[in-house]
Amino acid sequence: MPKHILSSEQFTTSELSELFERADHFRQRDETTKGRCKNIKRHVGARVTSLFYEPSTRTRLSFEKAASALGATYTMTECADMFSSVTKGETLEDTIRVLNAYNDDIIVLRHKETGAAVRAAAVSDRASIINGGDGKGEHPTQAALDLYTIQRNHGRLDHLNVIIGGDLANGRTARSLAKLLAHYAGNSLQFVSTPELGISNDIKAYLADHDTVFSETADAQEAFTTADVIYWTRLQAERMTEEELQAVSANYTIDTSMLTYIPEHTSILHPLPRVNEISTDIDRDPRARYFQQAGNGLYMRMAMIDQILSS
Ligand code: NCD
Repeated sequence: MPKHILSSEQFTTSELSELFERADHFRQRDETTKGRCKNIKRHVGARVTSLFYEPSTRTRLSFEKAASALGATYTMTECADMFSSVTKGETLEDTIRVLNAYNDDIIVLRHKETGAAVRAAAVSDRASIINGGDGKGEHPTQAALDLYTIQRNHGRLDHLNVIIGGDLANGRTARSLAKLLAHYAGNSLQFVSTPELGISNDIKAYLADHDTVFSETADAQEAFTTADVIYWTRLQAERMTEEELQAVSANYTIDTSMLTYIPEHTSILHPLPRVNEISTDIDRDPRARYFQQAGNGLYMRMAMIDQILSS
């Protein structure tokens, strides 16, 4: 059976530590031409496909760069909902079966429907499915790179006060991150949003099951004063109806005036893309670590590809 990456629930803390070590190793080698040549020799002949039914910048590009940096060949179909045989009525399952028939080793899948990655994995006998985001469901590789960024900046993943804010009802990154933080002891989560964009009950139940303390508030300013990490997300307008959009009652923008409430040691993270919820005025503040976070995605995805292809 191939090893799939479908949900952040599946990662154990020891598996994550191992991924962080691999990511550090590839990062170090990536700094020199000699090191890059060593990385390239690692998986010559392996085949990776990125099958994206939704737009993407970071997830697709970093997986493709990660595959080629490790010597694997990759093929991709961007906008698969427009340019693949799906327009003729082909099912996701049949597309996955075809890629298996081409002897693919890894398929990175992004899809509009929650649960699509699980459906794909059910028919993928050879290729590992990596969930690159499924509807309002999960984005486990993003959550792993988020934790990698926190570990690098704070030296630990436990006993942190993490503020997760924005559109928590429709965003998948917040969901996957919240679950993953619950795998470490003593973390306290505070969700900042208005009620219509609040985190859903399945995540609350997961946190309760994992003895993770959490609270909900609409007051970002108050929450920020005690934060180790602020994880901010955009309004997922493309997943909302016109009515739902009209009902959004608050606009949370982190700008220079908000910085006064944020401690010096705090990391401000965002999965990106940002729209207007983080002002570009704060980009040069040392607490603003979202571009560093995006860069970490390359090494985390190299580590994941390597782990799968080495198992
Ligand atoms: C996120 C996603 O696709 O869920 N983007 C990403 O992969 N970094 C976040 C978003 O689109 O808001």
